[in-house]
Amino acid sequence: MYKVRFVNPQKQFADHKEEYMGAVEQVFSQGNLIMRQDLKDFEESIAKFVGVKHAIGVNSGTSAIYLSLKAAGIGPGDEVITVAHTFIASISCVYLVGATPVLVDVGEDFNINPDLIEAAITPKTKAIEVVHLNGRICDMDRVQDIAKKHNLIIIEDAAQAMGATYTTRDGSVKKAGSFGLTGCFSLYPFKALGAFGNSGIITTDDDAIAKKLMLLRYNGEDRETRFFSYHSHNMLMDNVQAALLNVKMKYFPKWIERRREIANLYYEGLKDVPQVKLPHFDDNRYYDIYTNYAVRAERRDELKKYFDDNELVETIISWPIPMYKQTAMLPNDYFLLETEKICTEIISLPMYPELTNEDAQNVIDAIKTFYTK
Ligand SMILES: Cc1ncc(COP(=O)(O)O)c(C=O)c1O
Repeated sequence: MYKVRFVNPQKQFADHKEEYMGAVEQVFSQGNLIMRQDLKDFEESIAKFVGVKHAIGVNSGTSAIYLSLKAAGIGPGDEVITVAHTFIASISCVYLVGATPVLVDVGEDFNINPDLIEAAITPKTKAIEVVHLNGRICDMDRVQDIAKKHNLIIIEDAAQAMGATYTTRDGSVKKAGSFGLTGCFSLYPFKALGAFGNSGIITTDDDAIAKKLMLLRYNGEDRETRFFSYHSHNMLMDNVQAALLNVKMKYFPKWIERRREIANLYYEGLKDVPQVKLPHFDDNRYYDIYTNYAVRAERRDELKKYFDDNELVETIISWPIPMYKQTAMLPNDYFLLETEKICTEIISLPMYPELTNEDAQNVIDAIKTFYTK
């Protein structure tokens, strides 16, 4: 058992057990299982939270991206620009709708490098799928300028960024999921806002896309008219997950603050350790939510082995090889320098609101001890 665990869902459950169990009891005792009021309430509260007109609950972040690409009419013959330094779903969904992903490198904040986007545009490019990694929004002023100039759709893979904000050059403070045609969120248990199982949600300001997504997530069926307009999947969010997430929404703003507090503790404790590069970037346009606290560490593999052998700190390496070297993507001739470097240096430290200051200090001490021994 590690001294500091990577995640601790039991603790979050225990903190509000009565409320969660009350929500479940209500749903089950009233038989409110599929597409009921709890789901509508959750969709409304997410739309309000993100600052868009519509939110559509689905069963995962992967489904959110897949359905968004489908609803945007992206398919065979189209190219979608995205990054390699992301979870495979960002890329797989492009393949799954029959389009071709075109991968560009990321910058030092792990997000798409806007300087590289235009060179990747071809006559086949339909969309830019930005990935707001680790809870930090991409440089959306730059991305939006490029999209506008080349008439491209923006899809936001905001799987890791619920609640993150970015101040645009006109001074508006906008949340992840409010920039693109759609914003795609994962509500996987270990995301900043996580369900008790798989779930996801799509945000949009576009009425027609919202309507299409409502049909696509449920076999193409309009639940009011009972007519089927498309062949599609069943990718609906369960009502019981929505009921549980409605409880979590009450605490979510506080949890984001706590994540930022922990990030600051890590920063203060580790800023003078030259072997570790921390994910703090000097730019006050960004309000990062630290879904993951991913640092770049010298002798990363040895550091992880030291943590593991001594059961000190449980960590995760996302990802040890670039996605274009994964079997699912072969063959190709990609070589993205920053992505390659990140894969050899990256390591994610424990980060969740229930982490205590003492836990954070234990992580800091373990890292310092490793580099001084
Ligand atoms: C960047 C990114 N995109 C997409 C996904 C897919 O979300 P889900 O696991 O809910 O399908 C994830 C989840 O890990 C993610 O981190």
